Amino acid sequence: MKYEKRVSADGSETLYSKEYGECYHSVKDGAFREALYKHVKPAFSFIKKPHLRILDICFGLGINTLTTLYYLERQSQVKSVEIFTPELDEQLLASLKGLRYPPQLEKYLPILDRLIKDKVFKSDNVNIELFIGDAREYVKGLKVIDVVYQDAFSPKKNPELWTVEYFEDIAKILTHEGVITTYSVATPVRLALYEVGLRVYEMQPEHVRKITIASKKELPLKEIDMQKKKQLATAKPLRDKVEKI
Ligand SMILES: C[S@@+](CC[C@H](N)C(=O)[O-])C[C@H]1O[C@@H](n2cnc3c(N)ncnc32)[C@H](O)[C@@H]1O
Repeated sequence: MKYEKRVSADGSETLYSKEYGECYHSVKDGAFREALYKHVKPAFSFIKKPHLRILDICFGLGINTLTTLYYLERQSQVKSVEIFTPELDEQLLASLKGLRYPPQLEKYLPILDRLIKDKVFKSDNVNIELFIGDAREYVKGLKVIDVVYQDAFSPKKNPELWTVEYFEDIAKILTHEGVITTYSVATPVRLALYEVGLRVYEMQPEHVRKITIASKKELPLKEIDMQKKKQLATAKPLRDKVEKI
């Protein structure tokens, strides 16, 4: 088996991937808390729109997607969501059956079952598309996106989802008021976001460690002086490897 179960700090279970050598969520912060406080709540708070188009990079255990549905019912501004979520590993989806999900998400487990089976879910106010395949290809075919939950494995283990070229494709589809949320506070990641014309902010959410938010617009957050960072940092943004002929 490629995965091992791990219990995270808030009691919710996550998996450890032997292939990537990493957990799918922060065991320290807790899987549910991480989804809610690092991604869903910040995204909903900075975009004042009744309908959100969300790109969830990547589906994994589906915790970010299900937490979005949980939070949608607990706030009044956003009335409906469309979630687009790629996932490379179809075998992972088959292994989610035996996992103990956070009690807050139990209500949404029939939606998870439906997604695993049909790869789509539709209701009056929720539309979800689960794409099995490479996120790099998938994002090229998307149109307008308001929110990106940038939640790949770390840049070290999953570099193709943290490069300047990848963020270029993301920036093309991100609306002016859109936001990217990510757990990564690494300088090369922030440099890559800056390189594609995004403003880079640091945020300290409740209950979890600091995160990075990127956007085209000004946000009421601590903005990182990326020009200064770029001049001083020895770190460089990640780039796609060019095949040598
Ligand atoms: C940290 S986990 C995501 C956890 C997920 N957000 C959740 O809430 O459960 C990263 C996921 O990215 C997937 N992945 C890695 N590289 C990918 C790629 N190029 N395209 C699509 N999925 C990819 C992995 O299979 C893994 O499921």
